Amino acid sequence: MANLQLWETLKAAISAYEGLSPATFFTVLALALALAFAFYYAISGFFSSPEAPRMTRGMARALREELKPLPPPVPLGEITEEELKVYDGSDPEKPLLMAIKGRIYDVSQSRMLYGPGGPYALFAGKDATRALAKMSFEEKDLTRDLAGLSSFELHSLQDWQYKFRGKYVMVGTVKRTIPEPTCW
Ligand code: HEM
Repeated sequence: MANLQLWETLKAAISAYEGLSPATFFTVLALALALAFAFYYAISGFFSSPEAPRMTRGMARALREELKPLPPPVPLGEITEEELKVYDGSDPEKPLLMAIKGRIYDVSQSRMLYGPGGPYALFAGKDATRALAKMSFEEKDLTRDLAGLSSFELHSLQDWQYKFRGKYVMVGTVKRTIPEPTCW
């Protein structure tokens, strides 16, 4: 009842102030609102790209993993090449390790580089000495064998070693299977 009264008063007020019938007034109001919305969308379209990248669930998961604080590196002592293999990033609970000249570094902070799908994933869980010296991605060069490397390659290897020493924590060494040349 009160609603009906309110409606009657509203109608009377609209006619008195606008000189329009309530039906015409509401049609004009609806048109004005529609125009305002259309204008808003047209303007906001200028400021946001239609191809703005959307974050997929996979990307969100990767980002969460990336932002998770890393556990402190755990010293492993001397392990075999076989044991090193389990630290190739396939188990996200384990640290990501890689070795150069028998020295094992915890590269977990660079999961984007060495983790599964990363550009240098092939080095993870391996001693990549020869591959780094030769700048090679070949499976056969994933070894600690220095035989036949040029002096340029040995120097390049030295640079890699400095880089890794400065950036990562050394957590252990790889048990020797072939005798090391005396000059190293
Ligand atoms: C077209 C050739 C290459 C390009 C453009 C390239 C580019 C890059 C870039 C931009 C980074 C730095 C990534 C970062 O810190 O975010 C990087 C890191 C690295 N690159 Fe390459 N790279 C190339 C070839 C190679 C090759 C042939 C090797 C060895 C076989 C190699 C081994 C590495 C390693 C081990 C790292 C990571 C070092 C670290 O942990 O900080 N790259 N590369």
